[in-house]
Amino acid sequence: MADWERFEQAAKAAGRKRIVDLFASEPGRLERLTVEAAGLTLDLSKQPWDRAAFDAALALAKDSGVEAARDRLFAGEAVNVTEDRAVLHPALRAPDGAQFSAKGQPVSAAVEAGRAKMRAFAREIAAGDVRTILHIGIGGSDLGPRLVWEALKPLGPKIDLRFVANVDGAEFAQATAGLDPATTLVIAVSKTFTTQETMANARAAREWLGGHAGANFAAVSANVAEAVKFGVPEDRVFAFWDWVGGRYSVWSAVGLSCAIALGWEVFEQFLHGAADLDAHFTTAPLEKNAPVLLALAHILNRNGLGRPIRAVVPYAQRLRLLPAFLQQLEMESNGKRVTADGRPVPRPTAASVFGEVGANGQHAFFQLLHQGTDIIPVDFIAVARTDEGPAGMHQMLLANVIAQAEALMVGQPDAPEPHRVFEGDRPSTMILLDRLTPRTLGALIALYEHKTFVEGVIWEINSFDQFGVELGKKLATGILEELIGGPAKPHDPSTAALIARLKR
Ligand code: F6P
Repeated sequence: MADWERFEQAAKAAGRKRIVDLFASEPGRLERLTVEAAGLTLDLSKQPWDRAAFDAALALAKDSGVEAARDRLFAGEAVNVTEDRAVLHPALRAPDGAQFSAKGQPVSAAVEAGRAKMRAFAREIAAGDVRTILHIGIGGSDLGPRLVWEALKPLGPKIDLRFVANVDGAEFAQATAGLDPATTLVIAVSKTFTTQETMANARAAREWLGGHAGANFAAVSANVAEAVKFGVPEDRVFAFWDWVGGRYSVWSAVGLSCAIALGWEVFEQFLHGAADLDAHFTTAPLEKNAPVLLALAHILNRNGLGRPIRAVVPYAQRLRLLPAFLQQLEMESNGKRVTADGRPVPRPTAASVFGEVGANGQHAFFQLLHQGTDIIPVDFIAVARTDEGPAGMHQMLLANVIAQAEALMVGQPDAPEPHRVFEGDRPSTMILLDRLTPRTLGALIALYEHKTFVEGVIWEINSFDQFGVELGKKLATGILEELIGGPAKPHDPSTAALIARLKR
C-alpha cells in the first residue's frame, strides 16, 4: 500500500525549506539528483525535495507497484483495462528479433513486416517524382509526426512535408498552396479511419488530387478495412494495431511520412533512441530511473505541494512543438477523475501543461513564472552542442536557459523595492541533450511517454483510454446536422441561440 500520508507530510516539510539551501545541508545532492539516460542528462536537484521527501517519493513509487506495472506493460498484458487492450509502443521500436506479445499473441513478426513495408515504400517514393507529402491526421495522428519533422528537417530532406489536421479549411488551403497534385503524395493517417476532421480532409485531398488520386494516395490505420472501403488499395494501406495508442503511435506507420521525407535511416535512428530509453526504463533502479524521477518530481509538486500547472520550455527552436505534443500525451493520458477500476480518484491527477520555445517565452509569460502568485514548476530542455546558425548564438541561448533556472530557484529576495523582489524557490528540471539528433529525439519522447505511464500507475488511473473526448464529438455530429438545415434539437438556451445564429 502506498503511504500517501508519509509522502504528503514529507513534501510539506520539504516545501518549508528553501531549495537552494539544500545543496549545503545535503552533501552529494547534485550527484544524487542527476541522472543519465540514453544520451539525456536530467538535473532534478532544483526540485523541492529534501532527502526525506525524495525517499518518501521513491517509496510511493515502489509501494504503488511501478516496477510490476512496467513489467506488465512490457509483457503485453491488457494494462488498458477499460478497453481490454495491451499497450505495446515499445514493441514498435525494438530491434529486429525482439519477441513481444500482446495479450499472449506474438506481435514482433508483424511489426517487422510492417517496418519492411514502410522501408520499401519510403525507398520507392524517394526514387520517384514525389516532391511533397501531405500528411493528413489529427491528435495522435498528427502531433508526433509534426514534432519529429520540425525537429529533424534541418537534416536536409529531399522531400518536403506538410500537415493538415484541422477541419478549418484555411489549413487545407494553406498546406496545398503552390503544390502540384502530380508530385504530391497524400497520406491519410487515422487509427480509427472514422475521425470526422480527418475524413473531411482526406476527401478534400482526394478531390484535390483529381486524376492522380489513384497513384498518389496512401493510408495509415489500425482499421485497414475502413481505409480500403474509403478507396485506398490494400497495398497502399499501412497497418498498425489496437495495442498502439494514438498519442503513442509515432513509432508505428503513423511516422511513415517522416520516414519517407527524412529517409529510412533517420527514422530508424529515431526508433533506436526510444529503444535505448526503454532499456534504461526497464533496468535502471528507481532512484536513478529518469522517467520515474521525472514523474515523482511532478507528483511532488502536484500532490505534495498542490501545484496544478506545469510549464515546458524547450530552448531549441527545433523542439518548439514539444509543448503541444506533451499537452496531448499528458493531459489526454492522465486527465482522469476516476481510477482504473472506476472509483473517484482520491487526489488530483494530471496538471495542465503549457509552454513555448525559449528564449521567446521569457519575453511573454515568464513574468508570471518569476513573480506571479502561483508557483509553476518548469521543465527546461536544452541542447548542449550544435553546429547550426551564426557563431556565438548558441552560447547566448544556453546562457538564457541556465539563467532562468537559476533566477527561479535563487531569486533576489532582498531587493530594496517590492516590485523588484524575486522570492525565488521556484522549482525546475533541466533536461540536457548532448546534440539534437534523431536518436536523442527518440529518447526524449520515450522519456515523457514513460513518465506519463508512471504517474498513471501512482494515481491508479488508466493512462491509455480517452473517454473524455467522446461527448463533444457526439454532440458535434448532431449540431452539424442542424447547422446544415436539419430540424432543431433540444438544447440549453445558450447553445440553441448560437446554433440559430450560425445556421445557414
Ligand atoms: O479525439 C481524440 C482522439 O481520439 C485521439 O486520442 C486520437 O489521437 C485522435 O482523436 C485521432 O484519432 P484517429 O487517429 O483515430 O483519427
